[in-house]
This record gives sequence, C-alpha cells and structure tokens, in this order.
Amino acid sequence: MNRDDFPQLKSGVIYLDNAATTFKPRCVVDRVNDFYVHENANIYRGLYDLSVKATQLYEDARKIVADFINAEPEEIIFTSGTTDSINKFTQMLDLSDKVVATDITGHHSNMLPWREHAKKVNYILCNQNGCSIGPGNCAEVNDSIDMVAMSMCSNVFGDTKSFEDAYGRSDARVLFFGDAAQAIAHKKIDVRMYNYNPLALAFSGHKIFGPTGIGVLYVEKRIHDKLRPTCFGGEMVENVTKDNYDLAPIPQRFEAGTPNIAGVIALAEAIKYFAKHQTEFFEHEKILAENAHFGLSEIEGLHIVSTKNDPIISFTVDGVHPHDVAQYLATHNICVRAGYHCAQPGLDFLEIGPVTRISIAPYNTLEEIDKTVSVLKNLRKDMHV
Ligand code: ALA
Repeated sequence: MNRDDFPQLKSGVIYLDNAATTFKPRCVVDRVNDFYVHENANIYRGLYDLSVKATQLYEDARKIVADFINAEPEEIIFTSGTTDSINKFTQMLDLSDKVVATDITGHHSNMLPWREHAKKVNYILCNQNGCSIGPGNCAEVNDSIDMVAMSMCSNVFGDTKSFEDAYGRSDARVLFFGDAAQAIAHKKIDVRMYNYNPLALAFSGHKIFGPTGIGVLYVEKRIHDKLRPTCFGGEMVENVTKDNYDLAPIPQRFEAGTPNIAGVIALAEAIKYFAKHQTEFFEHEKILAENAHFGLSEIEGLHIVSTKNDPIISFTVDGVHPHDVAQYLATHNICVRAGYHCAQPGLDFLEIGPVTRISIAPYNTLEEIDKTVSVLKNLRKDMHV
C-alpha cells in the first residue's frame, strides 16, 4: 500500500473512522476534477461530442461497477448512497402485504425503510457477538416471511456471517436484500454466488475510496419484473403524450433526472483502484485487525464486543462513556466514532449501550495501531477511573 496515494494522510492524523467514510486516493480526486475541467456535459441528451463522450464514460462506469460484483450492467442502478438505495428499493417493490425479516443489529437505514413500507418486520435476533441466533429463529423465518433484508457486515460488530447463515437456511422463494455498505470494502462480493434466492444489494461509493453522494443499488434481473418506478421525470421514459408514457428500460427507468455524473465516473475510478489492490488490502487489514484485537484485549477494563479479528472493532471501557473515549483519542490526533452508530436497537437488545469504534482501512499502519493501543492503555488512569 502506497500511503502517498492518499493526500489527506500527509496531515499526520491517525484516521480510524473508515467505516464512517474512507479517505480518497489522488486518482479519485483527480477524476472528479478532470471531469469538471475537461469533460463536463449532460448525458443522453446531447448530440455533440462532449455529451456523447460523457454518456460513454457514465455507461463504462456502470460496466466497471457491475464487473466488480460480477453483475450485469443493467442490474446496476446509481443512487446517492446506501440509504437512498434502500429507501428506493423498499418503494420499488410493493411491500404492502409482505413480511420482511431484518437483523436487529442492522443499521437504521436497513431497518426504518422496511418498517415504513412492509406489512410487518420480524427481527432476526443475535447473540452477544452480534451473530444471528441459530436454526430455531431461521426456521421461523422460512415459515412466515417473504423477504430477508440483512447487513452483509455490521457497522458495529463487523462480519458476523449472519447474512450467509440466513441465506444458507432459507427457502428459495425468499427474496434477499444485502446491506453491503460495510461489506463492500472488507470482503469480496460476487453476486452470482447467491444464485439460489433472488438478490438485491446496496452500497455507497464513499466507503470504498469513492466520492460522497454516489451509491449503487444492484437488483438481480430475476426481480426486475416486480419493480415499479418511484421517481418520475426526464430520461426514465421513452415516449410521453398528454395522457400516457412508455417507461425506458431498466436501469434508466430508475435514474430520473440528471444523475451524479462526475460521482459515477469517479466511483468507477475508486473501484478500479480498489480492485487492483484488493488482495494486498485484505491481507494487510487482517494483520492490523489481529494486532489491534490482541493489543486492546490486554487492556484492563476494556471489552471488545465485535467479531474477533475483524477490522471493525467496537468496545466499551468500564467507567468511561464512549464519547469521552473518542474525545480522549481525538486529543491524541486519533479519529474514531462513538455512540450508537445508527444501530441502536441491536446495542439495546444486547444491553451493551453505546460503544467506541475503531475501523481500519488498508492505509493504516501497525505503528498507528500500536499508538492507539498505547494511548488507550492510559485512558482509565488519566480519567481517574
Ligand atoms: N454508517 C456509517 C458508520 O457506521 C456512517 O459510521
């Protein structure tokens, strides 16, 4: 990993809030800049070269994103982020008579839209490590539910394998939705590996080195005939009369209005960068995560609540509120997140409450992990606890 690829690291900050958003490599920043300086034009609407070229770049980007998760380009819908993808998807389906199961440890954005639109939401419960509770619960899921909407990697507990667990136990008729916001940067996602049940999933660009404000909704072709448009306007229709219209094909049908063109093109750049280094990144992250887990587990009064050796490490400290832990780390130039992490029902269910979270990216170093562990060793003494 070449840390020079990430200009913001030069500030010397120890950035361990990568589950919130990652820093951006120079190639992504340059790609946004180049588009606006040299290539800016609207897409699909112009017959001049600039517009044709911009359209081509946009559709090339869709192909790059599709290839990254082994999908077809028409299965990729661009959105503004994971939250937008899930809100859209829950409205694209008619859920008024559907029962949806979701993990109680999931993010609010993969909980509230389903609660808002489905007939009923059942919670898949979990044990103390955030893993879904076994066969009994899943059998119940099979009997009564139409859909499973689960996190593919929790933003608090890391990869609990709960998604794979529920998928493995499910009836073929059950539609699966994966919140891949965190998973996308930490494990290889190949949508064709989930070829038993129909699948849709969502992720954001900004958690995988891309810009903010751009996201992906993948919807497998098998589900396309169940989808209805939720947003109406330009370029999602082909022929409009005073009283009627013909819908454009999917995915354009779900991308009304001028999209985030520069964001899409820069997301493709981020994905090319990530895909090129993916194996090396995962290996490095694993070493950092193991070291962090080992170092933190030696600290008296500190309790890790997330999956062993995962790059997302959430913990509590006896006698110190997570906000105070995060603030203490901030005084040492170390950035982490603290609180409920928009995943309150799970943390409440497990009676853990708010936590502090360290989240590792491939550009972090062993020195940064060691420094963080050694700062945390002094925390309770400095707080007089
Ligand atoms: N969902 C992001 C996080 O976990 C913002 O921090």
